[in-house]
Amino acid sequence: MKTAMKTEQREAARPSTSEPVDVPWHMDNPFLSGNYKPVLRETDARDLKVAAGHIPEDLRGVYMRNGPNPMFRPIHYAYPLDGDGMIHAVYLDGGKARYRNRFVDTASLAVERRAGRAVYGSFTHPEPIDPALFLDGENTAPIKNGAFVNIIRHGEHLLALNEATICYEMNEALDTLGPWTAGTAQPVRLGAHNKRHPRTGDLHAIQYTWREPIVKFHRFSPAGLLMDTLSLDLPMPTMVHDFVLTERHLVLIAGPAVFDVEAMQAGRSMLQWRPDLGMRIAIVPLDGAAPTWIEGDPFFVYHFANGFERSGQIVVDYVHYEKFSFEAGQRSTLRRMTIDPVQRRFDTASLLDEDTEFPRINHLHEALATRYVYLPVASGNNATGGFDALARVDTETGAVTKHDFGRLAIGEAAFVPRPGGTREDDGYLATFAYDAERDASSFVLLDAGRIDDEPVAVVELPQRVPYGLHGNWIAGTRALP
Ligand SMILES: [Fe+2]
Repeated sequence: MKTAMKTEQREAARPSTSEPVDVPWHMDNPFLSGNYKPVLRETDARDLKVAAGHIPEDLRGVYMRNGPNPMFRPIHYAYPLDGDGMIHAVYLDGGKARYRNRFVDTASLAVERRAGRAVYGSFTHPEPIDPALFLDGENTAPIKNGAFVNIIRHGEHLLALNEATICYEMNEALDTLGPWTAGTAQPVRLGAHNKRHPRTGDLHAIQYTWREPIVKFHRFSPAGLLMDTLSLDLPMPTMVHDFVLTERHLVLIAGPAVFDVEAMQAGRSMLQWRPDLGMRIAIVPLDGAAPTWIEGDPFFVYHFANGFERSGQIVVDYVHYEKFSFEAGQRSTLRRMTIDPVQRRFDTASLLDEDTEFPRINHLHEALATRYVYLPVASGNNATGGFDALARVDTETGAVTKHDFGRLAIGEAAFVPRPGGTREDDGYLATFAYDAERDASSFVLLDAGRIDDEPVAVVELPQRVPYGLHGNWIAGTRALP
């Protein structure tokens, strides 16, 4: 693992806190405007004002969230597949809160910092790059690795993850340490969504490329060493953003969003929806037995809430799309898929017929039977058009409870287990909320068991936090010096 970038180098590269919060450029793209507009300023703030409620004194750790935040005006931009990573972190300790945000200092960002401009194209429209912009030994691939999709901790490793490529190890202070090698001789490639087995503590990760019709599953030990890798074949190179882990199986659920180099060469997106290829599902036993393949009518999914085994079937809660598309206005709703591996068939049923994304559960119950899914929903009343409520779906009774954020817009909510808690819903939900009228953001904790109550705590943040992608609660993190 590389050592951290020297402090003086970082400070020289980092914008001063006297600079404006926002990046100084504009691009006419809805995903780079409003509260999607990237921030440039990296900030620290202690003893944040608690505007409502109280931060539970026994909560010690940090909520970290990643998201695409391009530093330089992009040449092309395809949300949510492009950008530089920026981690926004709220550290809680003894009832107090502290905020810090930092770019993920990737090798790609270093190239652009030296050039003083964007040099990479988009994930969907790669650009040839002048070789003179690279130093010896740098990766000259035409696609940026911004490490902007997720941030997780596994063992002692805090990892900023991108889609199906190398990830970057960070420390708790948000310094970038370098590409993660997982005990091997070179950086390992993995996806943004990974699953920890509830019994073994192993981390299972997915990997694919746009070049080959192969999906790989890596297994990392609880300490973060790469233990083994298995491969599955698909008809074409396919984008598979997430997968399912149960107690005894990995489950690959691949809709036909495929990489088509000919389309790219014809000036269209490299990602194409090919419904004629159908849905491919692989049930892969963790004991090494042969996978079972199931085919069916195509749909698309970015995110699974959870999957588990019940009475010989595999139950999967996920957000369903009719197809993959970059077009706005697609419906995305929470559904439950029930897979029968013996009959080799599946069916799906609606759990919540409202537009949603970013489904989360209490991660301590991942791969086990879960009852509650937490996810943001859009009422359509919010001026921003974004998610304005957080829903708790009881998948046993069908009951849906909501916390209405009114004029505030929210994103994904991470589960924060209550110290000493035992029930599945014994904890809090942490999210960032944006107030367009004040152009200000807050950190909000809700009671996961009583989501419609007043917030447990609302913490004012020192600057706007743009909409992002995924975050997690990192329990037990030491307070920063
Ligand atoms: Fe994701």
